[in-house]
Amino acid sequence: MSTIRACIFDLDGVIVDTAVYHYKAWRRLANELGFDLTEKDNEKLKGVSRVRSLELILQWGGLTKTKEEQEALAAQKNDWYVDMINRMTPDEILPGAKAFLIACREAGLKTALGSASKNSGTILDKVGIAGLFDAVIDGNKVSKPKPDPEVFLKGAEELGMPPAMCVVFEDAIVGVEAAKNGGMKAVGVGSPDVLYEADLVISGLNEMSLEKLYLL
Ligand code: BG6
Ligand code: MG
Repeated sequence: MSTIRACIFDLDGVIVDTAVYHYKAWRRLANELGFDLTEKDNEKLKGVSRVRSLELILQWGGLTKTKEEQEALAAQKNDWYVDMINRMTPDEILPGAKAFLIACREAGLKTALGSASKNSGTILDKVGIAGLFDAVIDGNKVSKPKPDPEVFLKGAEELGMPPAMCVVFEDAIVGVEAAKNGGMKAVGVGSPDVLYEADLVISGLNEMSLEKLYLL
């Protein structure tokens, strides 16, 4: 009998492909500051908080900014990002994500969101799946970034589940590490070359099933 009783999902890159919007907004900011950002650079920003992302980008551009300037730049990027996510529609849910969430709930498993984003509420509303989560833990509720397990441990706590009964779905290396650091199983969503620390790697939730979950 499987011990799994709950699934905790990262948002960006697992449920929706918002990485492209983050990239567009960060790239626009970098361009205005006089340099460019490649898609390879963007990979290093997955799962990383807004504040830390900006620090890295400024470092790559060889720029130093005061705290106040950094706050203004992060706010500007977020305004552009929010403009984009406000236009999101339910057809932007990644293939299989909604069906798997529903399957989990019908099987009596608890579901939670565990994301670094402070915009998760807007995104869940726009794509119409806010009602599919028993708990939502996001960047507004946590202070320690992944790979610290805080976000997932809070999720488990809100669900009333011990970490050992939880599985985390993550597309970022730091996210898989956070799950492991919290004593949870991790399913990597992406490439096995990158997410090799996960217990199972799938290319998307359309490849996931309850049968695979119970084998973890
Ligand atoms: C993570 C993304 O989910 O959230 C990062 O992978 C992003 O790219 C981070 O920087 C914070 O998001 P937001 O929406 O609060 O700026
Ligand atoms: Mg992610």
